[in-house]
Amino acid sequence: MNIAIIGAGALGSVIGFHLAAVSNVTLIDPWAEHVHAINDGGLRCLIDHEERIVTLSATTDPSGVKPVEVALITVKAAQTAWAAEVAAHVLTPDGVAYTLQNGLGNAEILSVRLGKQHVGQAVTTLGATLLGPGYVRLAGRGPTTFGATPVLHLAYAIADKFRASGLPAAVSTDLIGLVWGKLIVNVGINALTAILRVPNGALATTPAARSLVRKVVEEAVAVAQAAGVTLSLTDPVAETLAVAQATAVNYSSMLQDVLRGAPTEIDTINGAIVREGGRLGVPTPCNAMLCELVAALEETAPLRVQA
Ligand code: PAF
Repeated sequence: MNIAIIGAGALGSVIGFHLAAVSNVTLIDPWAEHVHAINDGGLRCLIDHEERIVTLSATTDPSGVKPVEVALITVKAAQTAWAAEVAAHVLTPDGVAYTLQNGLGNAEILSVRLGKQHVGQAVTTLGATLLGPGYVRLAGRGPTTFGATPVLHLAYAIADKFRASGLPAAVSTDLIGLVWGKLIVNVGINALTAILRVPNGALATTPAARSLVRKVVEEAVAVAQAAGVTLSLTDPVAETLAVAQATAVNYSSMLQDVLRGAPTEIDTINGAIVREGGRLGVPTPCNAMLCELVAALEETAPLRVQA
């Protein structure tokens, strides 16, 4: 099976590192420095303190890539429209692009360009940290679940490849509860860690931060219920705090974005809750405030005073 991974950040690189052992994999990324590092020195992955290297090809230009049956979309939300163009170039006529991205709305952006019949969703709890261009750390082997639609045999085929490469994976006919479950964890952790500038664990261990997590998660749960979603989480507040504790030393992806001055995914995470809440008549003042604070963080970055 030919696979393209569109996005050579932390998640895409960790997946590419594993799948390269069992498939033909091409990494496609908008940043030339990532691509050059991978082509020149191989893709390096730190697993349990041991550095391993694989050789695989990376490119910024999809025009020379062999057609692929599966494209895995691992770019940040801000690059989804770019990823859709790339997928349109590389997918076979029956191929599927699976979004493994955070938040809501990415599948819709892909569908506008590719058509619904070529877009699948997956939910991953793999932990990955980018240490530098072409250099990543595997932070946790959480499972990846692929949606059974739009093409069942491809969902099974890509899940098989994940498992063959050592990454746990499954196929589900009911992904929506998992998508929202992951969304709610991101709603509770990402913006708050970015605003407070703390690693994930701080949210679980300080009473004031725990209370904020509770407020934003409870709003998101109310929105999910109004949307008729049966969540994969039985106690969303406790489970969000448990993820924060389990990833205590990690910097959330949004904190990492803020620290390097990159656009955040606030719009597809807390912003999605506010939009859905507006549509369904569920008030979401805490999530709305987090959206405004993160927007202000992004805009005021050049003006920030140093300690
Ligand atoms: O986006 C992230 O950083 C991760 O999904 C999570 C679970 C919040 C852990 O850092």
